[in-house]
Amino acid sequence: MMSSSVRIDSRLPHVGTTIFTVMSAMAQQHGAINLSQGFPDFDAPADLLKLLDEAARAGHNQYAPMTGVPVLREAIAAKAHALYGASYDVDAEITVTAGATQAIFTAVAAMVRAKDEVIVFTPVYDSYGPAIELQGGKVVHATLAYPDYKPDWAAVAKLINKRTRMIIINTPHNPTGTVWTADDMAQLEALVKGTDIVIVSDEVYEHMVFDQARHESVMRHPGLAERSFVVSSFGKTYHITGWKVAYCLAPKERMAEFRKAHQFIVFTVHAPSQYALAEFMKRPGWYEQLKALYQGKRDIFRQALGSSRFELLPCQGTYFQCVKYRAISEEGDRAFVERLTKEHGVAAIPVSAFYPGGDDHGVIRFCFAKSAATLEQALERLIKL
Ligand SMILES: Cc1ncc(COP(=O)(O)O)c(C=O)c1O
Repeated sequence: MMSSSVRIDSRLPHVGTTIFTVMSAMAQQHGAINLSQGFPDFDAPADLLKLLDEAARAGHNQYAPMTGVPVLREAIAAKAHALYGASYDVDAEITVTAGATQAIFTAVAAMVRAKDEVIVFTPVYDSYGPAIELQGGKVVHATLAYPDYKPDWAAVAKLINKRTRMIIINTPHNPTGTVWTADDMAQLEALVKGTDIVIVSDEVYEHMVFDQARHESVMRHPGLAERSFVVSSFGKTYHITGWKVAYCLAPKERMAEFRKAHQFIVFTVHAPSQYALAEFMKRPGWYEQLKALYQGKRDIFRQALGSSRFELLPCQGTYFQCVKYRAISEEGDRAFVERLTKEHGVAAIPVSAFYPGGDDHGVIRFCFAKSAATLEQALERLIKL
């Protein structure tokens, strides 16, 4: 195509290709083991794939209802009740989305107007900022201070003003693997009480909470749930990130607004996947098994790296392990992960990519959602450094 003289006035001038795409491409180019992007290298359960095949062959191949197929919404409502004691109306308060990314984007599009402020916690997952900016909103960063990455509620209180429309939270947290406590939720609840601030609670790692910790879903806290869009993703829970199926729960007045945007952003989500997931969700024990699987991988990863020159930061949840590498190199984190990929054959993500200003504390993130063989091979390389 010839170059165009038509002026482009970018709505996202500072956005480039995400670091996840960049690092995965670099891993592929150099034949490195890819511990950068957050996806498993093992397959989805065979039974789930069989159910997908059956759903397609049973003729579920046309547009699903805009809100999601009823059997899946019923299964989601049952899950919210069983795990968190929350009651959501199957017809009015649950919507199936094309990934958590779309759910978050849609909640923002439905709620945020130009010049509204949205508080996010930094280091921050990369989709939140652009979603806010595309609505003309202003991203306000609350810092999760290195090295323990805990929220500073007194500092958050100072960020709230009459323009604050939304707070986006994420526990368990990507990239740091921290998990908020009941006290954090109580502090958040106290801050928003009596305001019109809405919350988007990104809970895509809800089942990856380790040791004695408990997942503090906003659904456990009625004072928060009444103002929240709760988002979770089947991609993370069933090793199917490529299916891009997720869901959002919210009280009916808010969900009605969400659906006004949803129907024109995506309208409806892949139908056979929804039927397959609804059936698969009936099987007991999956969430406990998932937690045990990832806790086991975390333990193997930490134990092996414990004898290396990497310094492990805590990992209470998610499938990410952050490490410091100062004993190995004085390089910036981007330069270090590039060299790690090219010269040592292991790709990781520089945590500075999660800061708008690129704050570099010499910390990188590994994804341990990998098969035992992949982890063993990667660890062999990492402990030599
Ligand atoms: C914190 C967080 N939120 C949302 C997503 C996106 O989930 P999905 O693939 O369902 O859009 C991810 C994926 O990595 C994530 O880490």
